[in-house]
Amino acid sequence: MAKAITKFICQQCGYESAGFLGRCPSCGTWGSLVETLLPGEGERARGREGERETKPISLGEVKTAKFQRLSTKIGEFDRVLGGGPPRRDGRVEAGIVPGSVILLAGDPGIGKSTILLQVAANIPGTVLYISGEESPEQIKIRSERLGIKDKNILFLSETNVEAIVDQLEIGNLKLVIIDSIQTLYTSSLTGTPGSVGQVRECAARLLNLAKRKGIPMFFIGHVTKEGAIAGPMVLNHLVDTVLFFEGERFQSLRILRGFKNRFGPTDEVGVFEMGEKGLLEVSNPSKLFLEERREKVPGSVVTCLMEGSRPLLCEIQALVVPTQLAIPRRVSQGIDWGRLQLLTAVLSKRAGLPLSSFDVFVNVAGGIKVAEPGVDLAVSLAIASSFSDKPLDPKVCALGEVGLLGEIRQVGNLEKRVKEARRLGFTKIVSPREVRTISSAIKTFVKG
Ligand code: TYD
Ligand code: MG
Repeated sequence: MAKAITKFICQQCGYESAGFLGRCPSCGTWGSLVETLLPGEGERARGREGERETKPISLGEVKTAKFQRLSTKIGEFDRVLGGGPPRRDGRVEAGIVPGSVILLAGDPGIGKSTILLQVAANIPGTVLYISGEESPEQIKIRSERLGIKDKNILFLSETNVEAIVDQLEIGNLKLVIIDSIQTLYTSSLTGTPGSVGQVRECAARLLNLAKRKGIPMFFIGHVTKEGAIAGPMVLNHLVDTVLFFEGERFQSLRILRGFKNRFGPTDEVGVFEMGEKGLLEVSNPSKLFLEERREKVPGSVVTCLMEGSRPLLCEIQALVVPTQLAIPRRVSQGIDWGRLQLLTAVLSKRAGLPLSSFDVFVNVAGGIKVAEPGVDLAVSLAIASSFSDKPLDPKVCALGEVGLLGEIRQVGNLEKRVKEARRLGFTKIVSPREVRTISSAIKTFVKG
């Protein structure tokens, strides 16, 4: 019976089929057919039938709602959600917007359930935690580990979205957490939980309810290794906010990043450390990243990144060793591999380092991932330092992009970066203000 009200639609060309096909007969794309409710059926299933009519209104008539954000009481989390710092009169400006739906995506095991349980414990009022992944006992063990004694967290072990919607209709809830959106299913579709059609339809129903009742919701979504298909990315356009929780599985650092945010910035990050008792905020990340640094070792250079509006000091490490191979190795961790290739080529050509007979390894200490070219100069100096086996002055902080001609270019927010570097005792700033080319930088700061 359920079959009669759905069809399979190709996401590439719009071809429609009554049954599932692995390959679209029209455009030839594999795995692009997604089960979808027939027009009208979707509305009925979501219970929107016979709702009020809508009519256009002028912008002048629209009243801006004065909503009070709900603080998670975790500063780093609120910062990413957006809304600004608490005001002097104590009114919280940053945090969760009522009725908003936030997708928290990340690799399995990164700490998504942990952070949201911590958030749940901080919310005054009743929070409903719906888990299709773990049993109440497992959640209990985690909450004991986190030291949560809160009676305000209700737990529901359910994966059927109709049953969940029924539960949400009753009661006065402050926040709902769905762990995870990929485990839910609706009986109107025949696909298995986690398939694109299911994920999308379940999310749409919950979203509808969140907006109607003004209850904010978190959806946890696992990122699949393959990326897009059936992953949380299919929900990007539906939800209000998409946050990514990142980090290396076996290192303690975790970074919460805004990817999309209808109610705040997308360039803010929150920094956390996974400890024995859950996630701890790191309010001075620069200090953390430099903690284990050994000064006066060749191949180590400190630089300053921008993470959102915050400057962040970190250490770049390089190791240059004679190669045993016909094609020397270039291995990078934390920076783009292509960028490392480019920098080694520039160093060979413009600074005369014979790197073609050396393997080059570069690592960003602390497990952070760097996407900006502002670290080029630090990477280049670290390689040159390891190559010549000469440590840099430990007070050096390198800030600059390196161009193909060997020139050093400006980076954005230089003042902020310099200030942060000085704050942590790096008095020798190397930037395009001091040196113009990579070869003179190496001469002055590595060989000099
Ligand atoms: P979890 O929140 O279950 O990850 P996710 O929901 O993203 O899959 O966290 C799993 C990992 O975190 C697990 O390897 C154990 C570790 N962990 C800690 O190190 N400290 C803690 O206090 C907790 C609760 C978990
Ligand atoms: Mg989990």
